[in-house]
Amino acid sequence: MSSSAPLVTVEGLVKHFPGPRAGQVIHAVNGVSFAMTAGETVGLVGESGSGKSTIGRAVVKLITPTSGKIVFDGQDVSKTSPQAARPLRDRMQIVFQDPYGALNPRMTVGNLIGELLKLHTELDREARAVRVREIADQVRLSAELLTRFPHELSGGQLQRVCIARAIATRPKLIVLDEPTSSLDLSVRAGILELLRDLQRDTGVAMLFISHDLDTVRLVSHRILVLYLGMVVEEGPSAKVFEHPVHPYTQSLLSAHLPPDPDERLARHVLSGEVPSAVRLPSGCPFAPRCPIAMPVCSQARPAMEMPATGHQVACVRVKDGSYRLPDSARRNVGDSVSHARG
Ligand SMILES: Nc1ncnc2c1ncn2[C@@H]1O[C@H](COP(=O)(O)OP(=O)(O)O)[C@@H](O)[C@H]1O
Ligand code: SF4
Ligand SMILES: [Mg+2]
Repeated sequence: MSSSAPLVTVEGLVKHFPGPRAGQVIHAVNGVSFAMTAGETVGLVGESGSGKSTIGRAVVKLITPTSGKIVFDGQDVSKTSPQAARPLRDRMQIVFQDPYGALNPRMTVGNLIGELLKLHTELDREARAVRVREIADQVRLSAELLTRFPHELSGGQLQRVCIARAIATRPKLIVLDEPTSSLDLSVRAGILELLRDLQRDTGVAMLFISHDLDTVRLVSHRILVLYLGMVVEEGPSAKVFEHPVHPYTQSLLSAHLPPDPDERLARHVLSGEVPSAVRLPSGCPFAPRCPIAMPVCSQARPAMEMPATGHQVACVRVKDGSYRLPDSARRNVGDSVSHARG
């Protein structure tokens, strides 16, 4: 593969799940396309249920897409089953939200990191021990923790162990699915800083998934805003944050998050504003909540267009530049959106 070719190309990714009732289909991801270059951090942001985790899992081959194409490191992996994808594991890794659930509680931290080296490298026992210390140092875990068990570590330390496991084989891509969402605010910043440093020092590409725009902003070069399994806005971080164009992104940016994630989730369920992935709107997915929707918005799904700000947005109002939400509308939708994040 040439160095200018993307590391990951996702084309028209679709993933359906069977719904709770017979014959029902959950349209989790509905035609998502993007590319990532080597060493790039791409942020994937959207409300709970917008399909972020499904995209992340499809990219690292934990699930098989319903349709669409995924090329990783020059290889078409679209049809590769999760079992057949095992040899790719040393080149692509995933870190989940709950670090405790991701770790075998009966193994020491040293063995949890060493296990990956045993599985994916030819290193002998001694060389593995050296490398484990090196990796622990890289994720700023003190060497004395290597003999401890997961229950003896804090949430932040456990997430460092998961990140250590993810970088152990020097992968080209790490998918991070809400890696700081279960952590106390006080330790989040440290983990984000670590990820930024690792990205810079190792050149690994990261797909950083979060419902929280501020978190995504801190680490991402580029951002994809997802709504109902569709990308509605995409561009360099600074552009999306400084000049949000899609009415949904404008709402997200003006939303204020309640501090407690559980409360957020409860309100999300109670508010009844959850967009349904069972029955998708026919046109623009945001039309049912968009304060500036027009009749044409419900007729066909808007294509990606380039506004004057120079990034990509799927909204029919891009053409005439009439996409700005009035402040009051932005706040109202923003509040309902903030309740629905989580
Ligand atoms: N294994 C599954 N079986 C059935 N539905 C699923 C499954 N995984 C995800 N979904 C559904 O797909 C949609 C997208 O989910 P997900 O990708 O987890 O969203 P996010 O990570 O943005 O919260 C949701 O409606 C969710 O309920
Ligand atoms: S296409 Fe229409 S409904 Fe969708 S975001 Fe733009 S104005 Fe709103
Ligand atoms: Mg998720």
